[in-house]
This record gives sequence, C-alpha cells and structure tokens, in this order.
Amino acid sequence: MEKETCTFSYCEKPEVIEHETDLLIIGGGMSACGAAFEATRWAKGQNIRITMVDKAATDRSGAVAMGLSAINTYMGQNDPADYVRYVRNDLMGIIREDLVYDLGRHVDDSVHHFEEWGLPIWKKGDEGFSLDGFQARDAGKPMLKDGGTPVNSGRWQIMINGESYKVIVAEAAKKALEINRQETGVEENHFERVFIVKLFKDANVDNRVAAAAGFSVRENKIYFFKAKAMLLGAGGAVNVFRPRSSKEGQGRAWYPVWNSGSGYALGMQVGAELTLMENRFVPARFKDGYGPVGAWFLFFKAKATNSLGEDYCANEEALAEAKAKYGSYVDKLGTAIRNHLMMRDMKLGKGPILMRTDQAMDAISKEMIEKLGEKEGKKKIKHLEAEAWEDFLDMCIGQAGLWACDNVEPDKVPSEIMPTEPYILGSHAGCAGFWVSGPDDLGAPVEWHWGYNRMSTVTGLFMMGDICGASGHKFSSGSHAEGRIAGKAGIAFILDNKDYSPAIKESMDDISAELYLPYEMYEKYKNFTTDPKMNPHYIKPDLLQTRLQKIADEYFGGCSTWYMTSKTMLETGLKKLEVLKEDAAKLAAADLHELMRCWENYHRVLSLEAHARHIHFREESRYPGYYYRGDFDKIDDENWKCFTNSVYNAEDLTWEMKKVPYVQLVD
Ligand code: FAD
Ligand code: ADX
Repeated sequence: MEKETCTFSYCEKPEVIEHETDLLIIGGGMSACGAAFEATRWAKGQNIRITMVDKAATDRSGAVAMGLSAINTYMGQNDPADYVRYVRNDLMGIIREDLVYDLGRHVDDSVHHFEEWGLPIWKKGDEGFSLDGFQARDAGKPMLKDGGTPVNSGRWQIMINGESYKVIVAEAAKKALEINRQETGVEENHFERVFIVKLFKDANVDNRVAAAAGFSVRENKIYFFKAKAMLLGAGGAVNVFRPRSSKEGQGRAWYPVWNSGSGYALGMQVGAELTLMENRFVPARFKDGYGPVGAWFLFFKAKATNSLGEDYCANEEALAEAKAKYGSYVDKLGTAIRNHLMMRDMKLGKGPILMRTDQAMDAISKEMIEKLGEKEGKKKIKHLEAEAWEDFLDMCIGQAGLWACDNVEPDKVPSEIMPTEPYILGSHAGCAGFWVSGPDDLGAPVEWHWGYNRMSTVTGLFMMGDICGASGHKFSSGSHAEGRIAGKAGIAFILDNKDYSPAIKESMDDISAELYLPYEMYEKYKNFTTDPKMNPHYIKPDLLQTRLQKIADEYFGGCSTWYMTSKTMLETGLKKLEVLKEDAAKLAAADLHELMRCWENYHRVLSLEAHARHIHFREESRYPGYYYRGDFDKIDDENWKCFTNSVYNAEDLTWEMKKVPYVQLVD
C-alpha cells in the first residue's frame, strides 16, 4: 500500500512550541511527582531547568487519581531484605533484587513526606483499636516519622484516608517545579494535557536521548522538548486486552485510562532494552465494578470461597495438581497462584467466587461487642462500616455505585469476585518493564550497573514506576520513591555532562507532519463515505482498538481462552498484529480527542507486541493465574529461571531476544 503523508493540504497546520530544558519528566503520576520533588532539591543552585509534561491534569492523573485507601509499601520495622523475599515470592522467583532492596531502603521517607504534606494516616489507638487519620490527629497521635504506629492491614500495607492522596502528592510536585521555575527564570515548566508521542535520539552522540515531541489535547499546538536527560514515568498499558466490561460499561477497567502503553512505546522506539515483558497483572476484583480486594482480605480478614463455601486456596487436590506443574512456588500462595486456584474452581463450575464480606463484618462486630460492650462496640462498628464503604468511595466509586444499583449491602450478603482482563505494568503485582542500571553498593553483578541508578540502556533516559522492570510491588509509595531515586540520578547525570547540548536531525516540519497525519487522513478522505466511522481509506481509533483487543484476547491469553496461549496461537496472533501495525499508518482523527486515541492505540500495539514476543520466547508457564503456555504448562527452573530481555529496532521492525542470568542477592 502506498504510504500516506501529511502535507497540511487538508488539515490546519498546528503552532509549534519549542521548549528547551535540562531535565524532562514525562508523566505526572506518582513516580513523576516524586521525580519533580527530588530533582528540584538536587538542582538547587545549579541552574538546572526541570520540566514536567503530563497528558492529563496532574492533580488527578494516573493510577492514584480516584484516591486509595492504603499505602501498600511501607517498611516500618521490617528489614528491606524481607521485602525482597516477599516480592521475589510473589513474582515467582525472578526479580532484580538490587532494585527492590534499593526501593525498600528509601520508600518510608516518601510516606513520611506524604504525611507531612497532609495525608491522613491511620494510627493505633490506646486500646489497640485503629483510629482513622483524622481521629489520630485529633487524639494527638505522633506522625510516623516521630514514632507514630500505623495501622497495618498486611505486613507491608498501611491504612490511609486517601481520597485526596494524588492531589496532595501533586501539590508538592507542583510547588517544587515552581521553585525551580523561579530559580532558573523560565516562563513555564509544567505542561498539562500534552500527550508525548515520540522520543528522538541525538544527531551527533550515539545512543543518547535528546528530545520528545507531543501535542496539546486541547489546542492546535505541537510541543517539542529538547532535554539533556529524561525521566520516563508514563505508566503501563490498559485496554490492550479485550475487557470483560461491555457496551456502555466498556470504559470501565481496573487500571487507569490514562496509561495506554506510552511508557513502553516511547522507550522501545528509541531502543531501550526491555525485561520480563511477558509478565502481566490479572487482578482478582469485585466483579464488574473492579473494586479493590486488598483491604477486605487483609484488614477486614474476609475469606473468599467458591459458591459451595469452600476455600479454593486450601483444596488439597488442587494444591497437589498445581505443585506437580509449578513446584514449590505454589507453597507461597502468591498473587498469581491464588488466581490460578480461583480460576480452577471457576472452570470446574464451582463459581461464582464470593468474597464473604458479610461474614467478615459479622466476626468483627462480635469481637468488638465482646471487647467493648454493647454500646461502645456498636459505635465502633458503625465507624468501621463507614470505613468499609469509604474503601470504595476512596478508590473505586463505581463499585459503590454498582452495589447500590444491585441492592447489595456488603455487610449482609457476599459479593462476587472475578479475575479481570490482563494489564501490562510493573509497579503493582507485576514486573514488565525496562532493564535499568541499579545501585552499585548491593553486591549485584557489575553488568547491572552502568553509571546512573534507573538509567535505561539508552544514555540519558531513566525509567521509573510502572515501566521500570523486574521490580514489582512498589505500589504508590514505591513509585514515588523510585521517581525520587531517578530524579536524583538524572541531576547527577546532567552535572557530569555539562557541555552537552541536544541536537536533532529531524526537522520540525517533518515531526509535525508525522504527529498530525491522522488529521490529514480524516480531512482528506472523510467525504468518501456516508458514515464517517467506516471508510475504505482510513481506520478510526476505536475500530483499531477493537481489532487489537480481539487479537490480544483470543491469541495471547485473554479472558476468552482463560488466559491460555501457545507457540502456534502466539505466532498466528503476531501475524495479525503485524497487519494491524501496518494499518495503523491509516489511522484517522476527526478532532484532537481522536488524535490522542490514535496515538494511544499505536502505543498499545507496540506494548502488546513486546508482551506477545516475550511470552513466545519464554517456553514455560512462569506465571500461572496470569497466563499459561498450553504447550509448556509448567515452571522450568532449569532452563528459564532467568530474565528475558529484548530490544526493538524501530527502523527495520526487528526484535532481538535474549536470556540474562538471574542472580540471587538476598538469601
Ligand atoms: P501513574 O501514577 O499511573 O502515572 C502515569 C502518568 O503518566 C499519568 O500522569 C499519565 O497522565 C501520564 N501519561 C501517560 N501517558 C502519557 C503520555 N503519552 N504523555 C504524557 N503523559 C502521559 N498503590 C498503593 O500503594 N495502594 C493502593 O491501594 C493502590 N491501589 C491501586 C488501585 C488501582 C486501581 C491501581 C491501578 C493501582 C493501585 N496502586 C496502589 C498502585 C499505584 O497506584 C501505582 O503503583 C503507581 O501509581 C504507579 O506510578 P507511575 O508513576 O508508574 O504511574
Ligand atoms: S489495590 O492496589 O487495588 O489496593 P489489592 O486490593 O490487590 O490492590 O491489594 C492491596 C494489597 O494487598 C497488595 O499489597 C496485595 O498484594 C495485597 N493482597 C491482596 N489480596 C491479598 C491476599 N489474599 N493475601 C495477601 N495479600 C493480598
């Protein structure tokens, strides 16, 4: 097919805004906010300009947008080595222990800052019962940094009143950016609603990142940022797999809508090495509303059972069957294995799986009345019930709405839980991402450290949060802490390379034409049809996304095959994906919103391709409950207890795949 180009003969040429900075932070989520805060501290007095660019409004962008009710990574009295053991167990034995330990030793400082910035954190009350963040403050309980005792729901998780969590963290980041703006005298250094499409390498220095291009999703403007170093924190990939939700509910997913694979695509296209991209996360969630389960399992001590009332994680036969395939990993009952056992019961027709919220509330009520007496006990229960509701109102309002619509009172009846469609990410219970340089003081192999912490294999390009690979279970606090680690390292890198000035070989006209091609396509061909959605000359982003999700779902182990795939299925799907990638050159946008949808979907295509190629490469089922290779349905430690790394060559569309030895650093 003839390649289409944009000559601005049909669509209006955008205004081009060129912005030169020193450190460019891409994303405005937890990691990006951590990066802005920390980088500003280290840039002080050095005349280093810091710029943040977010496709959305930073106050409410990213995975923490709706708020959270727990901080899932807090060390407290724990040793970071134990945190490494926990993450290793949950991620089936293969993680970068240097990165995870590094995170563990820094994360609490981020949490202490959150509290100082105004985040209410629950504390232990004098009679052993929990006080929510406001009660604790009113009772004069000390802050965590001054020895206050948090309310742990699990060993690593602490409870918060977190509806405004992201706003609080964003405020600190915005303040830091403003300090830097005043220090360096630049006009503007925080760009919101600017979608970054592509990164560019330096014209003169080999393998060095130098610029990023994007467009405003509100105005007819293209932005071109030149920078000496970049920190990428644009999150993982949602809506790659066909979601379980359908029709008007389809926008609903567990993972946040903003994170459309840009994090992966931006780095991949400049050749940054990936690791463990076969990994994914399939959360078990309250059905249809995608409500969180952690607080119910850990804090309210609820049990999930099959419809017969049996604990599916304690079935001897199921455990023996799983052990025969997946060995001692089953004993740890990590997230993937718990999913596996749940799915087994569902496939045997023992569903629906039910979270026994009613029984949990009942048990708590009895305990409280026993300990506090009828009157005080009942008062406490009311408060706790409100907390249980708040758990959803804080972080998943839709679930509370759905319950209300379905006449479900969680304290009276159980609720269905269900494994969702897969998401590609690396900061929750998943670890797909980029291969980065780690700290040099933890005894890791020398080849895991090439100068600057969290720098990718592309010079000057740092990775953080969801897209920093092989180091999951960072969650919100850990992503913030990782942003701070990367922010500090980015400033060190700039200071060590003071004479560098970014130079690009591409012209601004060519870049504008590439970014706006979907506009030109639409305007050029829109009259060739009676229905603007269907056209022989172009494809609209929603149709491309439907095709993408169908391929992912049916060939790469989505819900429709119960997460099952194989060499032949992957190869067939990859062929279809190649055609889809070709067709993506014909994407058409009728407005700025659709232009964003076009590029989001292109980023999804690339993220999915990396995911599928990695699953294809790893000939075992390392993550049962997340996905299965039907042709290699076992864990094969002898051949596959290793990292799987890849590099994408965007010029000739080829992939290099390799195994990298896993090295255990913590006993
Ligand atoms: P995010 O915080 O998601 O930020 C990504 C940013 O990138 C966003 O600002 C987005 O707008 C921007 N972006 C994306 N693409 C582009 C682009 N092309 N150009 C410019 N900007 C772009 N953790 C906890 O500790 N406790 C919890 O209870 C908890 N619950 C969770 C519930 C849900 C539903 C989810 C999804 C996650 C939860 N987490 C929780 C995990 C935590 O939210 C994440 O680990 C963390 O937010 C990841 O940080 P990040 O910076 O990588 O990505
Ligand atoms: S959240 O990010 O949406 O809140 P989720 O509800 O899965 O995540 O879990 C919150 C925390 O609880 C995570 O640290 C997760 O690993 C942990 N968790 C969830 N369910 C269980 C369980 N059944 N057993 C142990 N830990 C769990």
